[in-house]
Amino acid sequence: MMDQWFSSEKQLHYLYPPSIRALAARHWTPLEISKMVVDFLAPENNSRVLDIGSGAGKFCLAAAYYKPLAEFFGVEQRKHLVIHAETAKAVLGIKNVHFLHQNITQVDFTQFDHFYFFNSFYENLENTEKIDDSVTCSPQLYNYYNRCLYKKLVTVAPGTRLATFHSEGKMIPPEFHLVEEHAAGLLKYWVKE
Ligand SMILES: C[S@@+](CC[C@H](N)C(=O)[O-])C[C@H]1O[C@@H](n2cnc3c(N)ncnc32)[C@H](O)[C@@H]1O
Repeated sequence: MMDQWFSSEKQLHYLYPPSIRALAARHWTPLEISKMVVDFLAPENNSRVLDIGSGAGKFCLAAAYYKPLAEFFGVEQRKHLVIHAETAKAVLGIKNVHFLHQNITQVDFTQFDHFYFFNSFYENLENTEKIDDSVTCSPQLYNYYNRCLYKKLVTVAPGTRLATFHSEGKMIPPEFHLVEEHAAGLLKYWVKE
């Protein structure tokens, strides 16, 4: 039954109501990207991977499906998206995924081994498409969140892996080295020295 949900992008989107499905093309990671990324982010069976801004949980759920022996965590500031993620998790019956309703600023990065980041702060910039108006967006917050993420990435251990999707890399400390690029450069893999 679970395989059926992951048989296509369209099928997976039926886990969500139309309002969430409508956001997928712009805001949720495509299935083929998730499938590729997990081989990099979960090199060991027990890897603990954090999705920085997990939305409705699409990346985390797909990652947990493809890597059942790793643990995936999603942190998300919008409570209603966390509820959609939890509902989808319950329908799928996936156990190795956990959603936290928090701002990224509150999260201790040293609890995790590796990280995924799909340009989560972008909607703070002017003239960008917002997910909704339930949170404050501003260019000041864009800079603040990027600075905060940079400082957190400084605290993580050597060997930590980071995958960025559609991200300009403003928040990546110089200790992270670019090791691979995919999807015409939109997907980048980094390893901390
Ligand atoms: C582009 S979406 C990606 C969702 C998910 N990673 C995926 O690929 O399916 C980015 C998400 O990050 C969340 N976000 C943005 N800033 C955040 C912050 N400071 N703390 C927690 N979540 C944040 C947004 O609410 C949004 O749901």
